[in-house]
Amino acid sequence: MNDELRYRFPAGFRWGAGTSAFQIEGGVTEDGRGPSVWDTFAAAEGSIHSRHTAEVACDHFHRYEADIALMAEIGLPEYRFSVSWPRVMADGRNPEPRGLEFYDRVVDALLGRGINPSVTLYHWDLPQALEDEGGWPARDTAYRFADYAALVQRSLGDRVDQWTTVNEPFCAAFLGYGIGVHAPGIQDDVLALQAGHHLMLGHGLAMQALRAGSRTGQEFGLALNFSPALADVDDRRHAEARRKFDGLHNRFFLDAMLGRGYPADVVADTRHLGEWTSAIRDGDLDLVAQPVDWLGVNYYAPARVLPLDDPEAVSNCRLPGLRGVDVLPPRGPLTSFGWEQAPGALTSLLTWLHEYAGGIPLAVLENGAAFEDKVEADGRVHDKERERYLHEHLHAVLDGIRAGADVRAYVVWSFLDNFEWALGYTQRFGLVHVDFADGLDRRIKDSAYYYARVIETNALPD
Ligand code: NOJ
Repeated sequence: MNDELRYRFPAGFRWGAGTSAFQIEGGVTEDGRGPSVWDTFAAAEGSIHSRHTAEVACDHFHRYEADIALMAEIGLPEYRFSVSWPRVMADGRNPEPRGLEFYDRVVDALLGRGINPSVTLYHWDLPQALEDEGGWPARDTAYRFADYAALVQRSLGDRVDQWTTVNEPFCAAFLGYGIGVHAPGIQDDVLALQAGHHLMLGHGLAMQALRAGSRTGQEFGLALNFSPALADVDDRRHAEARRKFDGLHNRFFLDAMLGRGYPADVVADTRHLGEWTSAIRDGDLDLVAQPVDWLGVNYYAPARVLPLDDPEAVSNCRLPGLRGVDVLPPRGPLTSFGWEQAPGALTSLLTWLHEYAGGIPLAVLENGAAFEDKVEADGRVHDKERERYLHEHLHAVLDGIRAGADVRAYVVWSFLDNFEWALGYTQRFGLVHVDFADGLDRRIKDSAYYYARVIETNALPD
């Protein structure tokens, strides 16, 4: 058997690459766009590496046509991008037609080149006006989100089949309101957990709104980020450490989405913080548990956990209320971000999700790696490490499929090098290099040519 038959993906498998609005668009004051929490956060001293801002970012707002031409050149069948809420509703409430027209043009340009658009509604850029009214810790934000989802469905729903409500509520809630390393930079564990619930409520309400306006062929889901917990020792204490980390990191949002409520062990472990569960009203858990067409799986790296002698000691990873467990330094090989490269953990994640979530269809909506890419003397970017990373992780996905997981899609993070949140432009995740020092020129990296071949053959080369 030749290798391309040996490592073939199922027929109809969906391939793509992704970005998000704030990370690439720029044009932050154009055509009526309002400020988002990330504009405010990025402007504050000490929040972003080297005081980088996303005012220009990749200037995709002006260069989207050329970017879409590059996608076509690579042969991407699907492009996952997010709509900026404050671009289409500057104050979070009232539609801004010029913002909607921008995404209209993007969708038409994609379809014109035969690329399937996949829209994410919330990739962290909450309108600042809504943050001023309490942000995600305030219940009303979830209702505003559902109105916004309905608006985008009315505007793009005739042409967009794939929809993600919320991207990584874990980061929006826990990094934004708990640890404070993401916008809006608040450090309050109770608010973080309540923000988490309201993000899930927003997801549920948005699912209802999207389905109410839906047509045949549309699919809706939620994207969660997973970090499997690994321990060096197989004993009761280490198992307990894994359980605690896993509860907050991997099961909290998943269980709620699956209709199981927030995990009882996490609720018990976080009780010392106070009654954050008072935010959960009668009927909320049913709303949150709207059936999805697939679960979006974002995977980068596992976490190595260690039980602490003092079960009350606050964890070094600062997840809300987490005690008695630390996270150990990652082990090589690492990416430039310092994340462990562990493709095997992706296979186990997919097979675990398949079992745990009752055979739910899975879509890997983010996977990829940052490396210190350089433009070489020949004018090209020979990003061999990313090519190897993708190759190994695609093998891991295939192993998951062969073990029974119903994986339908794989989307590389990212299409373009971009603004990596608190780390600014220091981390390059793209299939396409962006020259941030000079003119924002784009260059297709070698890894994109590797990926193009995978897409073309629907299989992995040897
Ligand atoms: C998760 C996020 O969705 C994305 O915005 C970010 O750039 C990547 N992971 C890499 O950190």
